[in-house]
Order: sequence, then structure tokens, then C-alpha cells
Amino acid sequence: MCGIVGYIGNNAVAEELINGLKNLEYRGYDSAGIALNDNENIDIFKAKGKLCNLCDVLEQHKKQLLSSTRGIGHIRWATHGSPTVENAHPHRSNDGKLVLVHNGIIENYKELKEELIKQGYHFVSETDTEVATHLVDREYHLAQSLEQGVARAVRLLKGAFAFCIMHQDEPDKIVAVRKNAPLIIGLGDHENFIASDVPAIIGKVQKIIYLDDGEMALVTQNQVTVKDFDGHILNKNPEVVNFSPEAISKRGYKHFMLKEINEQSDIVRNLLSERISSVDSPLNLQGINWNEILKKTKVEIIACGTSLHAAMVAKYLLESLVKVSVNVEAASEYIYRDTITGADTLTIGISQSGETADTITAVKQAKAKGAHILTLTNRVDSSIVRYSDNIIPLNAGIEVSVAATKSYTAQLISLYLFAIAWAEHQTGSNLKKLKELKQQLLELPAKMDEVLSKADALKEQALRLAQYKSFVYMARGVNLPTAMEGALKLKEISYINATGYAAGELKHGPIALLDENMPVLAILIPGGVTYDKMLSNCEEAKARHAKMIAVTSSLDEHLVTIFDEIIRIPEIDEALSPILANIPLQLLAYFIADALGREVDQPRNLAKSVTVE
Ligand code: G6P
Repeated sequence: MCGIVGYIGNNAVAEELINGLKNLEYRGYDSAGIALNDNENIDIFKAKGKLCNLCDVLEQHKKQLLSSTRGIGHIRWATHGSPTVENAHPHRSNDGKLVLVHNGIIENYKELKEELIKQGYHFVSETDTEVATHLVDREYHLAQSLEQGVARAVRLLKGAFAFCIMHQDEPDKIVAVRKNAPLIIGLGDHENFIASDVPAIIGKVQKIIYLDDGEMALVTQNQVTVKDFDGHILNKNPEVVNFSPEAISKRGYKHFMLKEINEQSDIVRNLLSERISSVDSPLNLQGINWNEILKKTKVEIIACGTSLHAAMVAKYLLESLVKVSVNVEAASEYIYRDTITGADTLTIGISQSGETADTITAVKQAKAKGAHILTLTNRVDSSIVRYSDNIIPLNAGIEVSVAATKSYTAQLISLYLFAIAWAEHQTGSNLKKLKELKQQLLELPAKMDEVLSKADALKEQALRLAQYKSFVYMARGVNLPTAMEGALKLKEISYINATGYAAGELKHGPIALLDENMPVLAILIPGGVTYDKMLSNCEEAKARHAKMIAVTSSLDEHLVTIFDEIIRIPEIDEALSPILANIPLQLLAYFIADALGREVDQPRNLAKSVTVE
């Protein structure tokens, strides 16, 4: 979702801002803008659509751009008002002197807007952000200082916001504010940066200050002062940036998504090598408070999107290995229910970004009811960490493509390890079975490499399938989430309709959709408890003339009589198969989307981290 960059230093600011915003493009956006302060004037340039459109606008003002060395920039994902130039940020006060960019949502914007209109302010956009702009301006005039004006205004705002604000009469500073939306300050040499996420300033600075909720920073070229909203100075320790520019480069791949799919076996290798020293020894999972967790009699797992599918797999694992009852729920549903959560509950939040608003709210809600909070996240510097008792870092590296791939695999591996470790801490667990699982986990990376090495064959299959307008993905048991995740991947990036469905449920409705124009992709793992039933469901679909696709480890020659396309994966225990079976589904979605000319890494309307509820 929206991204913010601010710069104050000696360099031409337009270039700094555009470079920073480019590194935030992965978050998803539909318009962009920058404000440049050249000491005398603040100029604003905006464009609808991608950053290249903004660059075209800037091209016409080249000379003017060179003299500004401080400014703020923004990419906007529309919430209030469609993606137009008027609604794009930065927004400006009526006297033209104050400019503001914003991530988040101002919940009380309607009341404030009415009040401001009565006081004579006029609005040129439909955004909640413009309300914040005029409010800060009003308070600035009352306080006669930008810092004081901002501090007064933010106390009147409800909702989530990260702001960067400049004023023409105080040209030597940018004010940055954070409440429920991330914002960081990058500390350079005679220059400072502000950004909503680390990639915007990777390679630019070595040290970062992470603002916390309720904090604002006064940023000048040579100084950063952080205060709370009451004006008390806070001593914040800068942290070292632990990402290299390499982390956000495509490394020769056509898209980030393809790169990230190919990184998965190494991510799994690293995660396993850190945690399994030998199959005969207990797992080494750090940072988990087992005393607390062992007391819990129920588990709830809350997440959104792809992370929700990982949660669904975890239910199978925890119920079968730990024998604990697990409830899985979309965070957006959980937060509007009076859940039976209490001191007996372990609440697991899963969020790649750690910034998904629904998941954060759900975790806060569970914590308020006394649950122990365990979070799995790929960003240990993210907001969700603040509300968690224990963290499992996914260590997948920055995921740039909007469609989650490597983070999902890292979530699955981490959940397998967590379930095994929990079972190892329990008395009466089947240690032989746990040892076998660990052994099979260790064999996984090589099998993943085998699947990845067959990408060319998969591409040919994808090209044969790219013409279809709709798909059904079906599976049973632990692979039902795999089918759902595969279907989600396809619709996210190719815009082809795809439904992930429980194979046994097909005959209760979706079978009505089947004919020769509707491919049915089935996940079949021989040796598993559902294999024979899956085959029967495939026969039923075949009888309705559906084009049949199998993702399977079976070598059964009879399968060619049912399936038009067979995607083979190496032999694998059903319990671990979701990790392996998912990879061809990722590749299939990728190759189909690419063949259709879609914008694979930044699909329309989607955002990488959804910071609004
Ligand atoms: C967005 C992304 C999805 C992601 C979901 C949850 O919708 O486009 O790829 O699965 O958010 O994100 P999280 O960061 O909480 O895992």
C-alpha cells in the first residue's frame, strides 16, 4: 500500500525521492507525487498510474528540479477517492505553504472536514489526507510553529497515520509522524531520509531510527530529534540496516516473483540447518516460551491472504502432532466476533509483512483477552512484533513481488518446525514419527530443487492452459490449503478466475460448472489417506468432460487415462507434501500470467501489505 519517502540533504531531491519510491513500488499503488522545497517555493508534481508517468511530468521541469535539496514523495493506493491527480499526494494547504503526504486512514475525517469547511477551508480532493493537511495548517497558524502545529493536530486525529510534512516558512526541516502506520528515519552524512519501509533507503544509509506509535521526528539536514506527541524528547537508539541492495535486485530474473520462487530451496535449507542439528536431538527453536505454551489448551491462528493458507496447513499439523484443538480464521472476520479467547489460548498471528492491519488488530484483541501471542513474520522490525510475546522470524529475505511465494514456504517450514518442537516438549509424543518427519524435512530442499529444475516443461504446460478463462483447483486434507493457495496465485497475477475447493464438496455445487472449458487441477499424493477418494473425484470431473490436470508424485501409468496434463513432483509423505506441491502451482500461475502479458510483480488493485482494515 501507499509509500512515503522524504529527503533533506545536499543532493537533487527529485532523484532521491524517485529512487526511494521505486524501491517501494512493490507495495502496490495507483498514483504518485512529490513536493520539492527550494527554500523559496514548494513545487508539487503528480501523476496518475505508475512512477514512470510522474517521471515524464518531471522531465518537462528539469531545470527547476535541480535547485531543490529537500522534499517529500508518495505513492498512493486509493482508499478515499479514486486514483486521480487531484487525489494523489502531496496535498497542500489553502495558502500553498504547507504540504503533507500520508499513509493510513483518518477515521474521523468527515467530522473534521465539516468543521474545516465551516471555518473557510476549501477542498480540491476527495481524500481524508487533505483533511489532515488543512487541520495541521489551522493548528500551525494557532501555534506559529510547524512542530507545535503538527503536535496539536495529531491529537485531534483518529485512525492510522504516518505523515511527512513541510512548510515553506520553515524550509530547513521535515516533520515525520507515526501512529499505527510504519515510518523510519535513515541517518546519513549531512543528509537524512524518511521512509515508510527499509527498501526505500537501502544502500543510502547504514543506520535507521524506527519511530514508534505516538512519536514524531523533527528532521533537519544534520539533526534528528524524536519526541512524543506531548513534546517530551525521546532517546532513540539507531539500529544498523541489515539488508543489502542485493536483497532488492532481480539478479537477472525477468521478475521478482520468479527470483523469489527460485530462492525457496535455499531458504528452507537455511531454516532447517539453523534448527535441526541432528534428527536424534530436539529441535532448536529459539525465543519460544514453552512454559507458557505448554499450558495452553487451545490454539487460534489468524492471518490474511496467503498467510491464511499457511495457517490452514498448521491446523492439520498441530492437531495431528500436538493433539490440540485449532481454530483458523481470517483476521478480518475474527476482529468482528466475540471470540472465546482467554488465558488458556495460544493465538498465532501469521503475517509476512507484519503490517497487515486486520492481523495486527486481531492480535491486539487476543492479547487484551489474555492470550499468549506467537507471531510468525518475515519482518522482525514490523509493527506486529510490538504486540507479540514470542516471534518466529521467517528469514526469507525481503519479498518484493506482491504475490507471496517464498514467504509462504518459509511460513510452512516454520510451522512444521513449531509443531514438531511442541510435540517434542510434550510427554507421550511419538518420537519415532517426529524423527522421521525431521529426516524428511531435511530431504525437502533437494526435492524442491528437482521441481524447480523442471520449470521449462511446466512453462510449456502453462502455455497450453493460458487460454482458459476459469479453473477449479481441488484437493483434500492437508492439501486443501495448497489448492486454495494455487488458485489464489493464479487469480492474483493472471486475473483468471480460479477456485480452490475441497474435492469432496465439488459434487455439492461446483460440479455444475464443469465442461470442456473448465480445467480441473487436482493434487494427488499416493499413500495419503485421501488418495483413492481423490481419484474418484477426478473420475467424476472427467465424466463431465473437464480438462484434467494432476499435480502428483504418483508414477501410476493409469493416470494418463484420466489426466490431460500431469505435473510430477518427487515422492513425498502426504504430511509434508503441501510445501512441494505448491511450487508447480506458483510456477504455473507465473508462466500463465507472463504469457498473458500481465504485470506479474505488481498486479492491478493489489498491495503487498494491506495497512487498512
Ligand atoms: C496482501 C498481499 C498478499 C498477502 C496478504 C497478507 O493481500 O497481496 O500476498 O498474503 O496481504 O499479508 P501478510 O503480510 O499479512 O502476510
